[in-house]
Amino acid sequence: MRGLAHTDKLDPEKLEQFSLKVMTDIGSSVLTLLSYIGDQTGVYRALRDGGRMGADALARAAGVDARYLREWLSAQAAAGYVNYHAEDETFSLSPEQAVVLAQEGHPACMQGYAQFAISQLATYEKAIDVFRSGAGRPWGEHHSGCFCGTDRFFRPGYALHMLDSWLPGLDGVVEKLQRGARVADVGCGHGSSTVMLAEAFPASVIEGFDFHLPSIEAARERAEEAGVTGNTSFEVRAAKQLPAKGYDLVCMFDALHDMGDPVGAARHIRECLAPDGTFMVVEPLAGDSLSDNLNLLGQLFYSSSTLVCTPASRAQEVGLALGAQAGEKRLTEVLKLAGFTRVRRVAQTQSNMVLEARP
Ligand SMILES: C[S@@+](CC[C@H](N)C(=O)[O-])C[C@H]1O[C@@H](n2cnc3c(N)ncnc32)[C@H](O)[C@@H]1O
Repeated sequence: MRGLAHTDKLDPEKLEQFSLKVMTDIGSSVLTLLSYIGDQTGVYRALRDGGRMGADALARAAGVDARYLREWLSAQAAAGYVNYHAEDETFSLSPEQAVVLAQEGHPACMQGYAQFAISQLATYEKAIDVFRSGAGRPWGEHHSGCFCGTDRFFRPGYALHMLDSWLPGLDGVVEKLQRGARVADVGCGHGSSTVMLAEAFPASVIEGFDFHLPSIEAARERAEEAGVTGNTSFEVRAAKQLPAKGYDLVCMFDALHDMGDPVGAARHIRECLAPDGTFMVVEPLAGDSLSDNLNLLGQLFYSSSTLVCTPASRAQEVGLALGAQAGEKRLTEVLKLAGFTRVRRVAQTQSNMVLEARP
């Protein structure tokens, strides 16, 4: 029994604690699927809007099968995601549960991250192949939930911080945007940040670029819905193909570490800036060493990075594979190698850091 060679050294208490932790984590992944079912079928929203009710009434309100819903509600109640009232066999959401599970756009709502996680489970075979072979995995080859989930997860943080803290932290940029500036949002994904900028600064022209066509199509729809087609445009282009228009501001939201050649992309962006232009780089918050990142945020980002960011970078030329926890020191190095002379951190939130790079 070679595999059991260490069992004589086992500390039973530590074994119980650790196996409980792993069981909780595995249980959470199944629970996340249930939670995502509640998101996609509208059950959480129906419970939030309808208030305390029984399983049959909730099934009617949400238009789902009553038997499955009873089982689902039992699991949700056991997990503490919904409250069960035994006296009349009804269920309810507290205001906090309603925000985290059903309040789209609220920074505490976790459904975007759930959608992202489920999209990864849906394509686990590909993840195993890539992990074994070391091959790249292009961004565009993920399940569509990866793109929607990423947008849903990041958007509330941008809405909360970009206008009030990130842009004001940049030297003289808000004044330029108010007067009318030329802006590029590179790696814009579904265009949430592009649309926010266009709404806030109607005198400025905001151009969104991404090399992923379905994301650009989604961004165009988003701009249409928001009524900002007058000062936005979207184009399928890789970062290294940004047109040299003398931009006052180029921003990049959670995308630099996904690029195969972040140094080359940043160098090209520098060449596309006006002489006193600014490159704003928003990246996941991280310390400079693994030991600094051994916390929940590190766990979330290193996990996403193993599955998506690092293989996405590997699938492109150079394939630098910065990873989603590169940290300020490494990112500054990348920007300096690209020829930026002044790089400083201008803001940070619970999950992002914002760097200003000047030519
Ligand atoms: C994590 S997503 C972030 C999207 C968006 N900025 C957001 O914050 O929601 C990274 C984005 O970078 C794009 N991307 C990756 N490498 C790229 C490259 N070399 N050129 C242009 N876009 C790229 C991907 O298509 C994807 O939309």
